Amino acid sequence: MFALRAYAPGEPARLAFDEAPSPDLGPRDVLVRVHASGVSPGELDWPGAWLDHDATPRVPPIVPGHEVAGVIEAVGSDATGFAVGNEVFGYIDVHRDGADAEYVAVRADTGELAPKPSRLTHPEAAAVPLSALTAWQALFDHADLQPDQRVLVHGGAGGVGTFAVQFARWRGAHVVATSSERDRSFVSELGADEVIDYRGTRFEDTVAEVDLVLDTVGGDTWSRSWDVIRPGGRLVSIAVPRPPDRDEADGRRAVWFVVRPDVRQLVEIGRLLDAGLVRSIVSDILPLARGAEAYGPGARRSGPGKVVLSVAGD
Ligand SMILES: NC(=O)c1ccc[n+]([C@@H]2O[C@H](COP(=O)([O-])OP(=O)(O)OC[C@H]3O[C@@H](n4cnc5c(N)ncnc54)[C@H](OP(=O)(O)O)[C@@H]3O)[C@@H](O)[C@H]2O)c1
Repeated sequence: MFALRAYAPGEPARLAFDEAPSPDLGPRDVLVRVHASGVSPGELDWPGAWLDHDATPRVPPIVPGHEVAGVIEAVGSDATGFAVGNEVFGYIDVHRDGADAEYVAVRADTGELAPKPSRLTHPEAAAVPLSALTAWQALFDHADLQPDQRVLVHGGAGGVGTFAVQFARWRGAHVVATSSERDRSFVSELGADEVIDYRGTRFEDTVAEVDLVLDTVGGDTWSRSWDVIRPGGRLVSIAVPRPPDRDEADGRRAVWFVVRPDVRQLVEIGRLLDAGLVRSIVSDILPLARGAEAYGPGARRSGPGKVVLSVAGD
């Protein structure tokens, strides 16, 4: 098969479009014929991507791309719950080879794959799993966001931010988001009640007393966010590098977390997508052979949302 393969951490220049062996199908695996994969531009810097489950270093090259949409091609002898021909999508194990390839092997019993939302194309579906699960877990697992609460989403036009704005709005919260001036009207159409241009305005000059801040940016955005949270409120961060956890006497609390696969949440997100209550935002679709352009700090995209690699041409 053909695959995009990384030869060293953090070096997108060393990503090559190679002929590679097809993945081994373990007894509890399914083999997915990949139609599209979602790109996390910083993935080659994730330490976990270069380690096995037991923390031993993996032998390069490795295949990136841990969001997949595709069709089940084969089912391992002990794998249950999937049949050849099922359309699936999911956020898949970062310690194994990923979906920037014609085929990927995925464990069937770890909640990584769910039925693909039927109204979505494969590229639209591939843009969902990691970003949407992260937004969902931040708002609902780590902060228990309630209707009528006020939430500030930093990076509202990003992969995670576009879902966070939509989920918070769906839950009935008042949503304030930061974005570039270019993306302001887009983020407002997604459901933000207020959008702040992060280059032109210091958010703390116009926002106060929010129940929750979701920080997808980090650095001084994280530290400045403290001043806009009401006593008892939450600062939930996913930014890299990890900021410290923090507890204040007035009940404000900061947490950082790493997203995990969750099939029940993915199915619920799929329902919202199929019902048209939430949209998948794809900024660009590149062919797999040009996938290296989507990785690394210099990777450019033409608008809000995620870059997706088209593997099967749809
Ligand atoms: N911990 C976890 O489990 C987890 C999960 C998913 C992602 N992440 C990490 O979270 C971060 C965000 O992920 P993502 O996929 O949403 O990234 P992304 O798609 O690159 O989005 C980031 C967004 O933030 C905007 N931005 C940049 N600087 C800003 C600032 N100072 N204030 C407000 N917005 C700003 C960017 O706008 P411009 O276009 O103007 O630059 C962009 O729209 C990444 O570092 C990613 O690695 C962590």
